[in-house]
Amino acid sequence: MDNQLAEQFVRIFGRAHTKSYFAPGRVNLIGEHIDYNGGLVMPCAITFGTYMLLAPNNESVFRFRSLNFKETLDIEIRPDGYTKMDKNWYNYPLGVIDRLIKAGHVPQGIDILYWGNIPIGSGLSSSASIEIVTAYALNELIGAGISKLDLVKLAKDVENIFIGLNSGIMDQFAVAFGQKDKAMQLNCDTLNYEVVDCNLDGYLLAIINTNKVRALAESKYNERVMECNEALNVLKSAHRMQYLCDMDTKDFAAHQHLIANDIVRKRAKHVVEENVRVKEAAKALAAGNLTAFGRLMYASHDSLRHLYEVSGIELDTIVDYCISNKHVAGARMTGAGFGGCAIALVQKEYFDSFSEELIQYYQERIGYTPTIYSSLIGDGVKALPQTLLI
Ligand code: GLA
Repeated sequence: MDNQLAEQFVRIFGRAHTKSYFAPGRVNLIGEHIDYNGGLVMPCAITFGTYMLLAPNNESVFRFRSLNFKETLDIEIRPDGYTKMDKNWYNYPLGVIDRLIKAGHVPQGIDILYWGNIPIGSGLSSSASIEIVTAYALNELIGAGISKLDLVKLAKDVENIFIGLNSGIMDQFAVAFGQKDKAMQLNCDTLNYEVVDCNLDGYLLAIINTNKVRALAESKYNERVMECNEALNVLKSAHRMQYLCDMDTKDFAAHQHLIANDIVRKRAKHVVEENVRVKEAAKALAAGNLTAFGRLMYASHDSLRHLYEVSGIELDTIVDYCISNKHVAGARMTGAGFGGCAIALVQKEYFDSFSEELIQYYQERIGYTPTIYSSLIGDGVKALPQTLLI
């Protein structure tokens, strides 16, 4: 694909690119809707991702092209930065440039071509992937000297300030720091992380795309963030805490009556219990106990379904099927929810029959088919070797 991309670059811009980069997507093994509540999450980078080829130009213009989208953008460098333009994909790289300019860096004109194989809108972080690949590449190109962690924060600001989604830091972090065959146990308060060996021993990680077109996901997401803030403000008046995840289940049981609103109380209960599940899951994974890990995945899904209410009939149908199949250790929705993807731990030798049966089960109930991938856990953002340049 890289050579084909290089040819496409020449076709589009009439000259060769000078550098190429890759950033992955991510799945989250457990710890959902936890990052913006200051707790623990366990994501890993996947081998699907976004490729970016670039060449500087002398015209003080950014030219954005993608082989995935027909919309293009040519825009002059503006010393004051930019604001979001309509709803197109190029807001992500434009947002990165905006944040760089606002941080005092002076980018030069660049021609950029993207191509990605992360299914768009599937909850596998295609947006964090394009943000991080762009931030990483431009940081190198203009010699801005920004650390990888600060690039992660800059990309999060693109989501929060430029795009308007109040998301946490998990996706950008996983896309930047992912390591092959490893998961990360990230503390979203301190941003310290431990690498967890993802020894799946006889199992494969299946990624199952519901293929549901997500609607209202952004507004529902922001609504959940607000509900958590509401719970936090109430609990703070009675307990010393900065984040919801600073509470353990015992403290929560003692204080939950203070939250008058039933829905808000349910949201907070999910957050506190999910954070505890991540700690248990890390222990289970380190001990190679996939049965225990799988049970925690199911418990996580159940909580997202009934307490946090971010699942839906499509994701629930997938998890219900998994529960009925004894060759599956565990399954859950991954990412924000409202459609998108589920993950499942499936015994290697039964992967094909699992896929066939699940497709049929889902089609009978939902009316169309899901897409099932067996994913490899891959590396974070990187420059691609020069040998790929032609
Ligand atoms: C989205 C957000 C993340 C995180 C997850 C839910 O992927 O971008 O910050 O909140 O949802 O865990």
